[in-house]
Amino acid sequence: MTQSNEPIAGGPQRHVPVMLNEVLSALKPASGQRFVDGTFGAGGYSSAILTAGSSVLAIDRDPNAIRDGQTLARQSDGHLKLVQGEFSNLDKIAIEHGYENPDGVVLDVGVSSMQIDEAERGFSFQKDGPLDMRMSQEGVSAADVVNQARQQDLTRIIGILGEEKKASRVSGAIVKARESGTIQSTTELAKIVESGLGGRKGDRIHPATRTFQALRIFVNRELEQLGAALFAAERLLKTGGRLVVVTFHSLEDRIVKLFFRDRAGTTGGSRHLPEQHQKSASFDLEGKGYQKVSAAEAEVNPRARSAKLRWGLRTENDCRPEDYSIFGFPRLATLESIAGGGNVSQH
Ligand SMILES: C[S@@+](CC[C@H](N)C(=O)[O-])C[C@H]1O[C@@H](n2cnc3c(N)ncnc32)[C@H](O)[C@@H]1O
Repeated sequence: MTQSNEPIAGGPQRHVPVMLNEVLSALKPASGQRFVDGTFGAGGYSSAILTAGSSVLAIDRDPNAIRDGQTLARQSDGHLKLVQGEFSNLDKIAIEHGYENPDGVVLDVGVSSMQIDEAERGFSFQKDGPLDMRMSQEGVSAADVVNQARQQDLTRIIGILGEEKKASRVSGAIVKARESGTIQSTTELAKIVESGLGGRKGDRIHPATRTFQALRIFVNRELEQLGAALFAAERLLKTGGRLVVVTFHSLEDRIVKLFFRDRAGTTGGSRHLPEQHQKSASFDLEGKGYQKVSAAEAEVNPRARSAKLRWGLRTENDCRPEDYSIFGFPRLATLESIAGGGNVSQH
């Protein structure tokens, strides 16, 4: 499923927290407890956790989210700490700020409504803006990728991260357009993608949606960030601590699913695994360990329609070694190789 970067009609709005009731049921915040919110955004989850009487260390890589959260931090009487950073480092950030062994870690992966709705951030093709898409507002931008990547790298990025079946037609159109000058804006790129795919042909979604998703995931290293954050949470959580993750498309959900499957030792059915294997499980799952967004919520908040929640409880066992091979990450060009004009291919 592709996550839509389309703005909601009516212009910028505050982010509506997705699956909030389900997140709270899985996280179970209570008075005096401590939580790490790795994706502060507009503070929807953090506010609800504070209301339950817990303290929160909230992280966001977007400086705007940290700036806009200062009012809530001031009102929290010292119970909310806000830190700009990447959730891949959430264990180090938490320890640095006195949040070792927390009761829970929550991640709501993806972009916020504020990011999508602000044309200048360049996430959406519905509004004309610079091709940026950097949540942290630094590093390699979508424009750098579109204008500098080799065609074969673009094809793989768009095909794999956007699940675009006709990725080579899109990359071909981009490379052709580059001959007439730099591609600078979101609407310009959307038109190029549309022409490469031969128009709209009654598509349910705009033909550029998949390409925009791919560029966003690539520029923000979203899959690697998520994988690293899950390992970091495993190292950080106290025994019985809860890891709760909300995702918005199948590439992200797959990473969380594979992580819990590996860590809960449920590959092949836990009851029948050798005792040794069961003992080393670092997470226990409750019930199925996942939940989809309700039809009622998807109806009132279209951005939530592909949301999925997965959660697990940290066991007393040691962490398993960090092993990125469980995710089967695709081999793609690196951001560094693209910005440097090189052609190293790895991931
Ligand atoms: C979907 S919003 C979170 C909304 C939040 N749960 C709320 O209720 O307001 C996702 C947020 O996570 C942030 N984010 C995404 N990837 C991140 C990462 N790797 N490290 C830190 N923050 C990240 C984005 O900047 C964005 O503000």
